[in-house]
Amino acid sequence: MSGARGQFSSKTGFVMAAAGSAVGLGNIWGFPTQTASNGGAAFVLVYFVLAFLLAYPALMAELIIGRHAKSNVVSALSSVGNSTFTRRLGAGVGYYGIIIASLILSFYTIVAGWMIAHLGQPFTVLLDMPEAGTWLTTNSTTRDLIFGGGFACITMLIIGSGIENGIEKWSTRLMPVLIGLLLLLICYVLTQPGAMEGLKIYLLPDMSRVSDPKLIVDAMGQAFFSLSLGVGTMLVYGSYLSKEESLPRLGAIVTLVDCGIAFTAGLLIIPAVYVAQHNGLTIFDEAGELIAGPSLIFQVLPSLFDSMGAAGTYVAIAFFALMSIAAVTSSISMLEVPVSMVVEKTGIERKKSTYLIGFVIFLISATIIVNFDALFGFVIDLTTKYSEPLLGVMLCIFAGWVLHRDKLLAEVKSGHPDIEHSLFWKIWPTYVRFVCPVLILVTFTQSLAG
Ligand code: TRP
Repeated sequence: MSGARGQFSSKTGFVMAAAGSAVGLGNIWGFPTQTASNGGAAFVLVYFVLAFLLAYPALMAELIIGRHAKSNVVSALSSVGNSTFTRRLGAGVGYYGIIIASLILSFYTIVAGWMIAHLGQPFTVLLDMPEAGTWLTTNSTTRDLIFGGGFACITMLIIGSGIENGIEKWSTRLMPVLIGLLLLLICYVLTQPGAMEGLKIYLLPDMSRVSDPKLIVDAMGQAFFSLSLGVGTMLVYGSYLSKEESLPRLGAIVTLVDCGIAFTAGLLIIPAVYVAQHNGLTIFDEAGELIAGPSLIFQVLPSLFDSMGAAGTYVAIAFFALMSIAAVTSSISMLEVPVSMVVEKTGIERKKSTYLIGFVIFLISATIIVNFDALFGFVIDLTTKYSEPLLGVMLCIFAGWVLHRDKLLAEVKSGHPDIEHSLFWKIWPTYVRFVCPVLILVTFTQSLAG
């Protein structure tokens, strides 16, 4: 079976796919809005420190286990085990990861559907169809089912085509478009009046906030979500990586790209909010906090685009295209987690497995859409706040304690022969055994207490 496994065709292919997974709505929406609600630049600073100190080592744990085992998350974690107990525990953690990946995909699909609906709206302006435009931008169960369903189909089409022809091909095509659109939008927004005020808030840290526990907890959650950690996404992508590549180096590149794009997205969103204020829009809520939730993306920014006249229609298209692309390259990485397991464990053909699982996950999305108030926030908290950090700890434990140290070294050595004498090998093994689990657990209990 392992001979038939797909593989990324090149280093660039892997970086595009893994960065495509990491760079998503979490970067373009989550990061700037968390920055806004945590007082600006201080959050940015703490975020970068945690991304490299905590998230990068955890990412390495996933990539190493994945490439070592060359299999889906359930088989990988159980094969790493050296006793019946650790093998069973591994399989259990793997299944838990699969459930959480699927649940993340179920709410992500809904949000991505909103992005596509809003991408349609400026076209209704060009076609002079105002009723259709209103329908697209007004919340309704029908709209969410149609656009969520459409997005789920795109995700399934890509994953059904496999690693090289699906994931790699589309990530490699879409990531440069995403970066291009992002830079184009920044150039435009920064020339608008009011932008400089936002830039100041974003770039000049208020050092007194750096030790705020809520800020630290938020930054850790954001770093884990942004690097797609905990649920086996990166483990599975690592399993498609050739033994010739250096894992520590590729992991570092992916972390850098992810942080870089989050930072760049902040250069767009925060100044844009202040441009909106300059144009007479309200950007603070009753509590005096900068608007951060869905109303930022779906009200403040669209009314900013409206106030830009004819150019605004095209800026809106670029912005929602950016959001939709970011969402696709991430959602495919979530669907790959359950699909790879079903294909490898049952032998059901890839396309069939993809449509089967994709359909089940869409049924979960539909259930959330129909019971939106009760379920949407609940599923987000259950997956991102409670499950991802715990799974992250388990993956660090499997890499640090369960996987034999010789095998660990052999794996990182492959593609990076002189690793034994590097700073990475001096620090990382101890780090992933003690520092990561303890720091994650401390931050996690803080977040429960908060
Ligand atoms: N990292 C993506 C983002 O920033 C989302 C994502 C993709 C993800 N795969 C994941 C999050 C796995 C958690 C787990 O939007």
